[in-house]
Amino acid sequence: MHCLITGGAGFIGSYLAEELINRGNRVTVIDNLSTGNIHNLSSIIRNPLLNFLHSDILNMQNLKDLVSESDIVYHLAAAVGVDIVVKDPVYTITTNVKGTERVLEAALENKTKILVASTSEVYGKSNKNFFSEEDDLLIGPPTHSRWSYACSKLLDEFYCSAFYKEYKLPVNIVRLFNTVGPRQTGKYGMVLPRFVQAALEGKDLNVFGTGKQTRCFCHVRDVVRCVLALSEKEFNGQVYNIGSNEICSIEALARRVISISGSTSGIVYKSYNEAYAPGFEDMLHRAPDISKIKKLTGWEPHYSLDNIIADVVDYYRNKKGRISPAF
Ligand SMILES: NC(=O)c1ccc[n+]([C@@H]2O[C@H](COP(=O)([O-])OP(=O)(O)OC[C@H]3O[C@@H](n4cnc5c(N)ncnc54)[C@H](O)[C@@H]3O)[C@@H](O)[C@H]2O)c1
Repeated sequence: MHCLITGGAGFIGSYLAEELINRGNRVTVIDNLSTGNIHNLSSIIRNPLLNFLHSDILNMQNLKDLVSESDIVYHLAAAVGVDIVVKDPVYTITTNVKGTERVLEAALENKTKILVASTSEVYGKSNKNFFSEEDDLLIGPPTHSRWSYACSKLLDEFYCSAFYKEYKLPVNIVRLFNTVGPRQTGKYGMVLPRFVQAALEGKDLNVFGTGKQTRCFCHVRDVVRCVLALSEKEFNGQVYNIGSNEICSIEALARRVISISGSTSGIVYKSYNEAYAPGFEDMLHRAPDISKIKKLTGWEPHYSLDNIIADVVDYYRNKKGRISPAF
């Protein structure tokens, strides 16, 4: 098969590219390297099955040809990371909405299969123990930039659904919950790499808000396995949650990172105002109901949170090539 991955030099995209190539597929990656990194592809960059294109999906001329030549497109390119979203909502909306629109339009000619990455952020401020795909969504007001990410991804979902209904374009959507693992950068606000890096450097771990907010962290390899299982199923405009349902508060995550890394770091609490912007809103709990994807594919995550943390700690330790003098 010939697979196209937009955003394939990013964190999730690079694991997906590796796995597709391991399974003998040809893979074309389009990435503008805004948050991605060519080093993410270092294990496959010389593989003849990989074609890497340093381009921007918003303006590349031959996007339509590339999509038409592909058997399936994994559309992952997006403006990602709370820091970027809060600081640059125009860029966020443009990248996420126009990018998806261009990919969907390009797919029409050959009715190419498209799998679009959405996010658990679309559940917004809804208050439920486990979110399921049919739930109503409660997004905050446009005066709060942080919602521009959720809203742009949600518009992507509406676009996908409309392209399926009106043009029978074979498209599915995955709502990814917190996806973590080696290679993820803490640069744009992702919590686990931020905590691990601080712990390894013997610095305090900054917990935003009360730390009582809970999340579920799924290993990127589990997520990729799920995405590939879904790729073999019917593409019929459906939405699927993908995530772990091991719930952990951010405060407890910080403690587990410190313990697993053997660090002597402490924990400090910062208000959201201090961390992001006045009036920044966060959701208290976010856990997926994964029964829909499990019923279709039999998938469930394999990695426990402790295994995931250990994996990320190893990655950052080896990356730095030294152990912090703080231990
Ligand atoms: N990591 C998570 O926890 C998570 C959770 C929910 C949803 N997602 C979604 O999964 C997808 C992948 O996220 P990720 O965590 O790997 O982030 P990432 O930032 O590592 O990957 C996004 C990639 O898209 C590229 N990109 C951005 N704009 C582009 C453009 N205009 N043209 C070409 N390439 C462009 C970036 O350079 C980057 O490589 C995104 O769509 C994101 O919204 C991720």
